[in-house]
Amino acid sequence: MTDTRASTTTAPAVFEAHAGGYDDDLRRRLIPPFDEFYGAAVAALACRVHPRRRILDLGAGTGLLSGFVAEAHPDAELVLLDAAPAMLERARERLAAVAGANVTLHVADLRDPFPDGGFDAIVSALAIHHLDDDGKRELYRRAHDALSPGGVFVNAEQVLAPSPQLEARYQRWHRDASLARGASVEEWEAAVERMRVDRCATVEAQLGWLREAGFADPDAPFRAYRFAVLAARRAA
Ligand SMILES: C[S@@+](CC[C@H](N)C(=O)[O-])C[C@H]1O[C@@H](n2cnc3c(N)ncnc32)[C@H](O)[C@@H]1O
Repeated sequence: MTDTRASTTTAPAVFEAHAGGYDDDLRRRLIPPFDEFYGAAVAALACRVHPRRRILDLGAGTGLLSGFVAEAHPDAELVLLDAAPAMLERARERLAAVAGANVTLHVADLRDPFPDGGFDAIVSALAIHHLDDDGKRELYRRAHDALSPGGVFVNAEQVLAPSPQLEARYQRWHRDASLARGASVEEWEAAVERMRVDRCATVEAQLGWLREAGFADPDAPFRAYRFAVLAARRAA
């Protein structure tokens, strides 16, 4: 595991402290469209015609998205980047069973330079919204430059509603849908506490930043209230 920078941001510290309790069943309760959301991210990778040899997962955490990607692309080399080593340690355990030797773990901040070597695809789930808007724009530019021609970028993300009124409604929907899926009030309140470090942006703003970064065909192939999958490709 490469350690390029100690964690100085609030969000990785929050996840580092909660790594032990970050389990897949809880994520299913707190992400009401769980299967559709992660499924759309994997599908967005698959529907672009490009060999997917080397894939970078930004804010990989316990490897939830990487696990789905590895199942769909068993021959891919996966590079998982996160600033919380305890989260990546859990990813190592998960991926040992799926992708074995094709996995590299990289402890780094999202604002650091990406690992060398270039990538055929860059994916991310529920991580980039921890950066401020300038940080997201800058990351999109670096992601574009780190991709090989024709390479794919997929960001499965928690997003901001287009207006404060809709945001309030979507937050209520999120709470009600999570409780309906079996989350306890305590689990929901702990999630709200973790979400205090979120800096979500709208789908429209992010599609604009992807376009500005040079990406072709930026699109949101999945969208449900506070959850969206953004996908784009570097021109061939
Ligand atoms: C909600 S978790 C998502 C993990 C995984 N992608 C998933 O879908 O389950 C967010 C992850 O992003 C990481 N993260 C947040 N801000 C970061 C930053 N500035 N640099 C590196 N990692 C960061 C956290 O440490 C955490 O593991």
